[in-house]
Amino acid sequence: MTAAYPALRLRRTRTSAWSRALHRENQLSPDQLIWPLFVTEGRGVEEPVASLPGVSRWSVDGIVARAKEAVDLGIPCLALFPNTPVDRRSDDGREALNPENLMCRAIRAIRDACGSDIGVLTDVALDPYTTHGQDGLLDDSGYVLNDASVEALIGQSLNQAAAGADIIAPSDMMDGRVGAIRAALEQAGHTNIQIMAYAAKYASAFYGPFRDAVGSRGLLKGDKKTYQMDPANAEEALREVALDLAEGADSVMVKPGLPYLDIVRRVKERFEVPVFAYQVSGEYAMIEAAVAADAGEREGLVMETLMAFRRAGCSGVLTYHAPFAARLLNG
Ligand code: PBG
Repeated sequence: MTAAYPALRLRRTRTSAWSRALHRENQLSPDQLIWPLFVTEGRGVEEPVASLPGVSRWSVDGIVARAKEAVDLGIPCLALFPNTPVDRRSDDGREALNPENLMCRAIRAIRDACGSDIGVLTDVALDPYTTHGQDGLLDDSGYVLNDASVEALIGQSLNQAAAGADIIAPSDMMDGRVGAIRAALEQAGHTNIQIMAYAAKYASAFYGPFRDAVGSRGLLKGDKKTYQMDPANAEEALREVALDLAEGADSVMVKPGLPYLDIVRRVKERFEVPVFAYQVSGEYAMIEAAVAADAGEREGLVMETLMAFRRAGCSGVLTYHAPFAARLLNG
């Protein structure tokens, strides 16, 4: 009796490294990484963030050094977030409109040092500037007002644009803000400044270490569920994306990352636009905790997760592991 051979042997192409390389469907390169960085006051200051091991806040001079490092590593874009001094925070977050705030000084310093060798993405939301840690303005009951918040976000966007931001990234989830910011940018002559909308941003438990880094965790009362999305929803994410694209977004973001890869895939298939994912602080911390517990090794965990974003349809990923991954990819 003849042996029953498998009709197809899918293992054949996996036999050697050269063949696996030849058949690899997705590629990762430093070009696809956006490096989030936290800015703090002072000179020569590096403040490690305890809940984000390996990540520090840097004063503006340190941010410039990181920008040069990114250029050398082939990372095309930085995402900046400020740790606003407590005495500059207010109910209405007006420090966001100050042309001399930390963000604007960091943007200008990067521009002076690196010219157009690197892109600067800036987050638009009031949480690093408010005494209550919410992304917008509150009414007397503590509800986050939509249209009044959008007015403030327009001012914040114009302030960042004037300082030299390349990509404005509204992360606040107010309705109508992309269209309003787009119109204001056009009116101000900023026709080539991109908008990357945090289009599908969920009210997630994975943002804790970020809130430590920008100093809003202890200030935040309640949650952000009246504006950020319910993790149970997917169809609603498609509506959010459709609106942000109609309002003039150049690209859209899904956030957090790994727990929402289904959303990335559905957005990519439905809209065929550039989709980015934010592998957020809690995701980074989980990987670092696994490494610290000897439950896995960093290189494998990081590269597998980044490839998963590519496979799901991402053009690129915001990740705190960007310099680590770029170093590996550069060999
Ligand atoms: C602010 C903002 C948050 C993150 C990016 N922009 C936190 C939040 O919405 O509370 C989270 C990023 C991360 O966890 O790495 N609107």
